[in-house]
Amino acid sequence: MALKERDEFTGQVTTGHEWNGIKELNTPIPRLVWIFLISMVLFGLVWTVLMPSWPGVNGYFRGLLGVDQHQAVKQSLAEANAQRAAWMDRLATEDFSSLAADKDIMTVVRQAGPAIFADNCAACHGAEGKGNPGYPNIAQSPMMWGDDTDAIAETIRVGINSMHPETRYGQMLAFGRDQMLSGEQINQLADYLVALHDGPAITNEARGDAETLFAENCAACHGADGLGSTDTGAPNLMDNFWIYGGNRSVIRQSIYNGRQGTMPTWEGRLSPAQIRMMALYVQDLRGKTP
Ligand code: HEC
Ligand code: HEC
Repeated sequence: MALKERDEFTGQVTTGHEWNGIKELNTPIPRLVWIFLISMVLFGLVWTVLMPSWPGVNGYFRGLLGVDQHQAVKQSLAEANAQRAAWMDRLATEDFSSLAADKDIMTVVRQAGPAIFADNCAACHGAEGKGNPGYPNIAQSPMMWGDDTDAIAETIRVGINSMHPETRYGQMLAFGRDQMLSGEQINQLADYLVALHDGPAITNEARGDAETLFAENCAACHGADGLGSTDTGAPNLMDNFWIYGGNRSVIRQSIYNGRQGTMPTWEGRLSPAQIRMMALYVQDLRGKTP
């Protein structure tokens, strides 16, 4: 082999290659890079011995440490399912007051509730339960069928005017169409209800007449004071929540044609635990603890 040529400026040996008068120096790879490369290779070898690595014919080399991600995933899934089953059992059977007092249960309700509500209820009652014309505000208004959680769960289970054999049944009579009241009397009642809600005032005489009409025709269901009754499902007419609307023409329509809203039954579509979870969720929206 020919004597290696040295570069006269740096004193380095050259590779012997030359391009257009420029000679390539034969500089060694720095020691630090060697150390790094060798230690990575060693680490890689040790890792393949400790951890699951080489594929074989009937499986793979499982590694000396016995680490198994499949097993770990299976185990945490099984744990999650067991926990879920425990929650579901409690939701299906336990008293609402003790469920609501349990932070873990309420965390489950707040995490799982919004999705069930969005899938099943929001189309009618709105994303936050605040209602739409024809669909009551269940996040804020007094409940027609009762404010306590058991009553709410029962409403969700059987529905209102639904296909369920035990459905809650509520009907606002068609006082005009069925000729129980004259158009004039309906106007008097509509004016009276509007006046009670910051609408145009009416004379004392008109008020007296309307109060008599109300006592004779409406109080049986809506209560003598008009605050509603959970026995008949007739809503409170004195507050500012309206299912159909509080302006004069909509109120007049409610009295003339009657109303019979339908709330579907959820029995069979949601599990008992989910139905009771929804009742807790609705109470939570209402800011109430049962
Ligand atoms: C198809 C539309 C519709 C869907 C979907 C629906 N609701 Fe209703 N819901 C109604 C209507 C309409 C009423 C009022 C019925 C009436 O006017 O008497 C009502 C009434 C209620 C009431 C009783 C309100 C009261 O004042 O007592 C509750 C509670 C309720 N809904 C909860 C739910 C929950 C929870 C879901 C989802 C699981 C749901 N609703 C899904 C239409 C719906
Ligand atoms: C047989 C029981 C019953 C009688 C009697 C009755 N109501 Fe009703 N009323 C209801 C029920 C139940 C509803 C709710 C209907 C629904 O949403 O399905 C209602 C709803 C209404 C509404 C609509 C409320 C809203 O939030 O939009 C008005 C207004 C109303 N009633 C006025 C009257 C007046 C005025 C009278 C007397 C002339 C009267 N009601 C008599 C049961 C009755």
